[in-house]
Amino acid sequence: MEKRNTFSMDEIYNNIGSLFQDLTSYNNSIAEEFKTLKKSEYLVQLSEPDIRKYSDKPVLEVMEKRRSIREFKDKSLAQDMLSAVLWSVQGITDTKGQYFFRSAPSAGALYPVSTIAAVFNVDGLNQGIASYDEKKNQLHYFSDGYSRKFFAEAFMNQPVVNNIPVLLLFFADLKKYIWRYRQRAYRYIYLDVEHMTQNCALACTAMGLACVTVGAFYDDQVNFLCGCDGVDKLVTYAACVGYRANDAS
Ligand SMILES: Cc1cc2nc3c(=O)[nH]c(=O)nc-3n(C[C@H](O)[C@H](O)[C@H](O)COP(=O)(O)O)c2cc1C
Repeated sequence: MEKRNTFSMDEIYNNIGSLFQDLTSYNNSIAEEFKTLKKSEYLVQLSEPDIRKYSDKPVLEVMEKRRSIREFKDKSLAQDMLSAVLWSVQGITDTKGQYFFRSAPSAGALYPVSTIAAVFNVDGLNQGIASYDEKKNQLHYFSDGYSRKFFAEAFMNQPVVNNIPVLLLFFADLKKYIWRYRQRAYRYIYLDVEHMTQNCALACTAMGLACVTVGAFYDDQVNFLCGCDGVDKLVTYAACVGYRANDAS
């Protein structure tokens, strides 16, 4: 007979986050090769996001044009375009006291979700993995060198990963929410990230870039590549960004 775990309601309540993750994860072991990725620590100041340059299209028209695009041109992405896309995801748009309001909403203005960029081919940037600091518009590299084949595997060999110049990964730092929202935090992180990724998709459309958001990945592998423990910090979603395959430029 099938052996079943039974949990009391108290156990479910106290472990709802890890139970939810366990029961909804795609699993694959972390290959030894992943551990050969070179660790690094340095900052890169990104070029200013020139948002006015791309704001001539009416937002409703941009919504009408948005489509998930999975065919990318194998071409280096302009750094100011990456900067503008990152701004759309979590750029600071206003400040009030201790609050730094962003382009996307967040419960209690706590912003538990941040972006990591896996850089494969962007003008003036090294290949590597970096977290984005929205206050300074900087990338904080924590891993250097070639990582595309690891991400391709971690994203279940979806062909889309092969040509993209940059993969954005959105990770939640649950501690930023749990102190205030307790168990509801596990629901809210996914609402946050959807706002951010919709901004990303619409910004890409407005800028003539291709974008597809991807939710199918091996959780442990992606968390490992992004330096997340999968418990307090976990990757929730990702977006492939780059030039469209049919881009004439
Ligand atoms: C939660 C979620 C997960 C998704 N995961 C993937 C994915 O892993 N790979 C992919 O190619 N597309 C993925 N997509 C994109 C959908 O396939 C796409 O939105 C859908 O086909 C509708 O097409 P449209 O976005 O062009 O309107 C995902 C979309 C959402 C909302």
